[in-house]
Amino acid sequence: MIEFNQVSFRYKPHTTNVIDNFNLTINRGEWIALVGHNGSGKSTVAKLINGLLMPNDGIVTVDGTQVSQESIYEIRKHVGMIFQNPENQFVGTTVIDDVAFGLENLGVPRDEMIGRIDESLKQVDMALYKWHEPIKLSGGQKQRVAIAGVLAMRPDVIVFDEATSMLDPTGKKELIQMIRSLHEKHHLTVITITHDLNEAAYADRVVALSEGEVWFQGAPRRLFQYGEKLQEVGLEPTFVTRVYSELQKHSIEIKQEPLHFKELVDELWTSYLKT
Ligand SMILES: Nc1ncnc2c1ncn2[C@@H]1O[C@H](COP(=O)(O)OP(=O)(O)OP(=O)(O)O)[C@@H](O)[C@H]1O
Ligand SMILES: [Mg+2]
Repeated sequence: MIEFNQVSFRYKPHTTNVIDNFNLTINRGEWIALVGHNGSGKSTVAKLINGLLMPNDGIVTVDGTQVSQESIYEIRKHVGMIFQNPENQFVGTTVIDDVAFGLENLGVPRDEMIGRIDESLKQVDMALYKWHEPIKLSGGQKQRVAIAGVLAMRPDVIVFDEATSMLDPTGKKELIQMIRSLHEKHHLTVITITHDLNEAAYADRVVALSEGEVWFQGAPRRLFQYGEKLQEVGLEPTFVTRVYSELQKHSIEIKQEPLHFKELVDELWTSYLKT
């Protein structure tokens, strides 16, 4: 679905590359979590996908089409983006206006537009808020409306760039749950960019960047096995990972590195019942 082929990018001429000789293939329907320290290049990668930035060297393709000035209009129909700050993503005075905005730009006929708006608001559980003012919604609700706006365009790919970072813990959990269900039910290709390894646990594959290069890619469980070493590339081991390494120090055996809280608790019960 997405391919980076030896891509390099620098913001200004004669400076070092922010992204250097970067290769990445993302399959259709896959969920990739892109993680890495501040300034490691995650947002730059996101912007190269939908042509907000163009590579200095190498090629980015989306569904076989090379991202270029000529193709960005087409590419942006296929790739939706959700950013960190829900406040910056609103243009309409009502939720329905807001979701309609992108469709109006695409020139979707009015009847079809109404159907698509209803459907996408339903997908994010916001159908009851159609006539509400976006500014009066909670942070999590605002992000869901922003997602509805993207879904209404029927994209193949959605990139979430730190979309949960301004939400409270409940809002974060709900949004991740929503992303999981969109990915599973609609076979969307999903890229979540995050600092929070708890969120990366649900992805099919994690790509960890360090200084604009791929430091790790593979299953989340394999990344978590680095334990405290994750700090060397500016990543914070999750609570579950830290508990797991303490348990190992105390010779409490657990079958495998737990991905999240539920797995940790289940494994602890299993090992307790054996003793
Ligand atoms: N508009 C810009 N002009 C010049 N340099 C930039 C610009 N945007 C980003 N950079 C630099 O490029 C590098 C990568 O930035 P990028 O925003 O891609 O990182 P990131 O991984 O998304 O960081 P964060 O976790 O803070 O969001 C950083 O060194 C940053 O300072
Ligand atoms: Mg960023």
